[in-house]
Amino acid sequence: MRMVDIIENKRNGKTLSTEEIQFFVQGYTNDTIPDYQVSALTMAIYFRGMTERETADLTMAMVKSGDEIDLSAIKGIKVDKHSTGGVGDTTTLVLGPLVAAVGVPVAKMSGRGLGHTGGTIDKLESVEGFHVEIKNEEFISLVNENKLAVIGQSGNLTPADKKLYALRDVTASVDSIPLIASSIMSKKIAAGADAIVLDVKTGAGAFMKTIDDSKALAQAMVRIGHNVDRQTMAVISDMSQPLGYAIGNALEVKEAIDTLKGKGPEDLTELCLTLGSHMVYLANKAESIEIARAMLEKVINDGSAINTFKTFLRAQGGDESVVDDPTKLPQAKYTFALEAKEDGYLTEMVADEIGTAAMLLGAGRATKESELDLAAGLMLHKKIGDEVKKGEALLTIHSNFENVEEIKARLYKNIKLSAKQVDAPLLIHEVIT
Ligand code: URA
Ligand code: CA
Repeated sequence: MRMVDIIENKRNGKTLSTEEIQFFVQGYTNDTIPDYQVSALTMAIYFRGMTERETADLTMAMVKSGDEIDLSAIKGIKVDKHSTGGVGDTTTLVLGPLVAAVGVPVAKMSGRGLGHTGGTIDKLESVEGFHVEIKNEEFISLVNENKLAVIGQSGNLTPADKKLYALRDVTASVDSIPLIASSIMSKKIAAGADAIVLDVKTGAGAFMKTIDDSKALAQAMVRIGHNVDRQTMAVISDMSQPLGYAIGNALEVKEAIDTLKGKGPEDLTELCLTLGSHMVYLANKAESIEIARAMLEKVINDGSAINTFKTFLRAQGGDESVVDDPTKLPQAKYTFALEAKEDGYLTEMVADEIGTAAMLLGAGRATKESELDLAAGLMLHKKIGDEVKKGEALLTIHSNFENVEEIKARLYKNIKLSAKQVDAPLLIHEVIT
C-alpha cells in the first residue's frame, strides 16, 4: 500500500477502505509516513468528507494507536460525559457526584485546562489537600466503593490523535466534522467508556458557533458511537452566554456545591439533570429518562448527592468541610462590582469574551506554563433577559490585582443593555440519540 494512492483516492472523492485508514494512522503514529503526506490527506478529507464507516474506522484506528484504559474491574456500565467546551461550564463537577449517588460508576480521567478557567482537576484542587495522583488499583477500588474517583491523565492515549490534531492546527484542517468527531470519540473510547453522553455546545462561547454545525457534529459523534458499539447520545446546549453564574476555579466549586444541594443556578441545574438522566439511563439504572430524572431529583433533595461529593473529596485527601463552609475555598483579596450604567434589560453577554476576562484575571492559563489563580474569576448576577437598574451590579470581579480597569472595559464592551426586553436563550436545543 502506498500513501500517495490513499491521498489520490480521497482527492478524487473515493471512499477509503478500512485497511487504507489503518495503514495511514499506523504509519503516521510510528513516523513512517511524513507530515506532508498526512497534511495533504487531511486537506482532501476536509473537502471530500468521510462516510460514516470511514469515520468509525478512523476513530478505532486512533484508539488502537496507543494505550487503552481497562475499566473491566469496575462493576457496571461505565458512562462517560464529554462537553465540547464552554465558559463557566461547571457540569462535570456536579454530574460526577450526582449520578454516582444513584449508583452509576464514574471513573473520570481528567486533565488540566488551557482555557478560560482550569480543567476539572484544577478546579478540584481549590479544595485543600485534594489530589489526583493515585495508583490505578486505588482508582478502581475507589470507584467500586464510592462510585466516583478522578485520576490524572497518564499513559499514552491516542498518540495518533495528538499528532493529527497538532498537524491540522497548523494546516487549516481542524474544522472538518469527521476529523473533529473521530478525534473526540477516540479519546473517550480509549479512556474506557462503555457508553457516552455528549454535551455539544452552541453559540459564541462554543467551538461550534451555529446550530447547524453543532448538530452536524453531534450527529457524527452519535453515529460513530453506534457503529463501534458504544451507546451514545448528545444534547445540544446553549453557550451564547456563560453557564450558571460562576466563572473561575474555586468559584465554580462553590457553585457545584450549591447545585448539589439543590440551590444552584437554574440553567446549570437543568442541564445537569438532562445530561445526568441520560447517563443514568445508558448505565441501565432506570427504565426511562423520566424515571432517571426523578432519581436524580431525589438524591439532590435528600442530601445524598452532596454527601457523595463529601465522601469523594475525603477519599482523595480533600478537606470535605468546604461543603459546609465554602469560605474555606481560596478567596480573592479584592472584589469589585461592575455596575450597570443605565436602566434596561440585559440582551447580550458574549460568552467567549467574558471567559477571556476571567482568564486575564488568572482563572485560566494563557499558555501551558501559566500559573492559575484559583480564587480569581467572575460571579454573574444578571443573565440575558434580566431587568437591570442603573447602578446595580451586573457581576462581581474576584481578583488578586488591585487594578482591574482594563478588565472592566472589556466586560462593559461585551455586556449589552437595551430598553427592549429579550427572552433568555433556549438552553437545550435538541437531544440526539
Ligand atoms: N477537540 C478535539 O478534541 N478534537 C478536535 O479535532 C477538535 C476539538
Ligand atoms: Ca458556571
